[in-house]
Amino acid sequence: MRTLITNGLVVTADGSFEADVLVVDETIEAVVGRETGVAEGVLAGLAVDATIDAAGKYVVPGGIDVHTHMELPFGGTYAKDTFESGSKAAAHGGTTTILDFAAQTKGRSLREGLDAWHARAEGKSVLDYGFHMMMADVNDATLAEMDQLVAEGVPDFKLFTAYPGVFYSPDDHIFRAMQRTRENGGLIMMHAENGPVIDVIAADLVAAGTTAPIGHGLARYAVLEKEATSRSIYLAEAAGVPVYIVHLSSRDALEVVTDARDRGAMAFAETCPQYLFLSLDDLGNGFEGAKYVCSPPLRPKDHQEALWRGLLKDDLQLVATDHCPFDFHGQKELGREDFRKIPNGLPAVEDRVDLLHHGGVVQGRMSRERWVEIMATNPAKLFGMYPKKGAIVPGSDADLLVYDPNRIRTISAATHHMDVDYSIFEGFEIQGASDVVMSRGTVLVRDGEWVGPAGHGRFLRRGPADYVRLA
Ligand code: URP
Ligand code: ZN
Ligand code: ZN
Repeated sequence: MRTLITNGLVVTADGSFEADVLVVDETIEAVVGRETGVAEGVLAGLAVDATIDAAGKYVVPGGIDVHTHMELPFGGTYAKDTFESGSKAAAHGGTTTILDFAAQTKGRSLREGLDAWHARAEGKSVLDYGFHMMMADVNDATLAEMDQLVAEGVPDFKLFTAYPGVFYSPDDHIFRAMQRTRENGGLIMMHAENGPVIDVIAADLVAAGTTAPIGHGLARYAVLEKEATSRSIYLAEAAGVPVYIVHLSSRDALEVVTDARDRGAMAFAETCPQYLFLSLDDLGNGFEGAKYVCSPPLRPKDHQEALWRGLLKDDLQLVATDHCPFDFHGQKELGREDFRKIPNGLPAVEDRVDLLHHGGVVQGRMSRERWVEIMATNPAKLFGMYPKKGAIVPGSDADLLVYDPNRIRTISAATHHMDVDYSIFEGFEIQGASDVVMSRGTVLVRDGEWVGPAGHGRFLRRGPADYVRLA
């Protein structure tokens, strides 16, 4: 199957140029600059099976979301999107690869958790997918299992200074796991908030009568994210390994990442759309605020510009969603009497690419090249997928978007594809949307309609990222 995407402006992390892209079967065969192509007749007379006219549009690498939680058992319930519904929703929003977090149940093996995730995703995900592993226990057995997982293409391990009794690990356990990655080439990803102290503050708030969702935001001080982020980075420095901070939410935590990077530490971090566009105010509207409960929590509005600046300066390398959707009715409602019982997590996988285009490029905070870098290229580079993913070069997977930078749409739960009964971005009018979403040469979405096959996705066996391998 030969498809020619013609007349578009190819936008990559390195630059933009008018070019035609020839896709043969699942891969990019050629990228031909239009002037040269026409002058030298490179594509003249070429027989193709399909032509996609991208006049007036960008041709960009498909989005890569490295932080999702499909079907995660959490907070006494399950994240609502399955691999089928969640990956389909992601595709509608211009994402073509997801990395999801398999979870270890406390007291059980990593293997059991990973096998369960493979079973959930295989034949269901419409997008190529890989896994990180969330560890609830660090002991001799799980440390040994880490080596095996790295060998199986699951090289990243999320540890938590939050959620005591569920996923929390004390410092010595975190340090042990970091030491192990120095040997096996894996990477530790940190959920950095001081969980035990937050639990004390939350209990005090409830005892004083604050049981509404706003209590969630009030209890989880930004300085407690800063402290845990700093601690995580110093522990990694002591172990001699890189570290990746997930879902960084605050100016305070960003400061320590910036300082660490300035002194040469191998510290990397992501933020999420919810921290760039929403704020603590959203938690304040009575029990409606439950729709916005996630950890770390939404911060006061004045943190947002610091995060955008961090993305521009590369103190933050990428944006992932932390997609972990729970219905408002029946799931978030578990915490009606006590904010501590509201399942933590937000739906966002469908909106990331377009929100970043709107807030980043349209609103003048970054170039379109940097937009491509933070939504596709850096995720591929940091997680061992580049240049198979995140690039438009011969030999790369043909994961491509024909992107209309001018289309305006309004986000709403009434029209989104995520299996969740509300949108955190309800009513947002944003500019930019994908006309065509292609995964390994197959068109999945065209003009907002699903046209792809079921179960198209494949497991991505990933190697260590360059910066881990070379550290
Ligand atoms: O609130 C959140 N972030 N829920 C998902 C689990 C996690 O900590 O990433
Ligand atoms: Zn987390
Ligand atoms: Zn998460």
